[in-house]
Amino acid sequence: MSGDGVARGRGHAKVILAGEHAVVYGHPALAAGLSVGIEATARPGSGRLRVPAWALEATAGDDSPVGRALAAIVRRLETPALDFDGEAQVPSRAGLGSSAALAVAVARAAAVASGRAPDDGAVDAAVDDAEAVFHGNPSGIDAAAAKTGVAGRFTRAGGWHPVPVYQAIRLCVGLSGRPRDTAAQVAAVARLRERLSVADDILASLGKLADDAAGALAKGDVDGLGRTFDAAHGLLCALRVSGPELDTLVHTARGAGAIGAKLTGAGGGGAVIALAPGHERDVLARWKTAGFDGFLAEIAATPEVRP
Ligand code: MEV
Repeated sequence: MSGDGVARGRGHAKVILAGEHAVVYGHPALAAGLSVGIEATARPGSGRLRVPAWALEATAGDDSPVGRALAAIVRRLETPALDFDGEAQVPSRAGLGSSAALAVAVARAAAVASGRAPDDGAVDAAVDDAEAVFHGNPSGIDAAAAKTGVAGRFTRAGGWHPVPVYQAIRLCVGLSGRPRDTAAQVAAVARLRERLSVADDILASLGKLADDAAGALAKGDVDGLGRTFDAAHGLLCALRVSGPELDTLVHTARGAGAIGAKLTGAGGGGAVIALAPGHERDVLARWKTAGFDGFLAEIAATPEVRP
């Protein structure tokens, strides 16, 4: 807690580089926590949460998803009555892990306000409780990535393990403008598995691509990483989780020089990521002309990897 009586917590936005949806079924996924995300402050109050950038206001225990998630966090952490303010640097419901970033930021601030460490085990449990309110039965990858600002491989059984990054990777992030609904997309894939004989093979291939992408990150093989993006997008289309805006963003990026582009996160709406070394500004400009906002994000190199 700072001298002004305000407790602070931070959660990172994330991009999934490969393995979304596959991770729900036990396969690996590769994600990176971004440097941007959400900062929360907590001070004595009455259980209200405000995030002006998302036009969001809720009270712990009201019947909105955020109100129920906030109630779950304060219940798990047994905090005194607090008010929370969130400063968001990423859009909400864009496939960038905003709900997990919010849950991590709020849980960390709540923990600090009640005399715990921000990495107390109860914080993890509180975030899982909140994510279950938002998404039903999430794999946990968003919550794991929101706690860190680095790249990591995640499986349901093994959890999160940071992966080495040989050289910094710049990504163009394109926003479809259509809110994504993770729970609905995960449910749609579950239904498709009943009706498409190759759905499980596609999910397994997406998991393999996550390991290929991790290998490419470790070697600094940017072309190889781009190929995994393109293959992953094709397979995600086969799972029917893409959509017209996401496909337009992907094809526009490729037309502007991207060497790989894919949807990231649950799909339906949300965001795409594109790898376009030397052409990042061209990609953002073409997206803008096509009516889509975007920004640049960086996956930092791991200092000890390079000789
Ligand atoms: C959402 O960011 C990632 C999904 O794989 C869902 C999950 O892992 O819980 C689509």
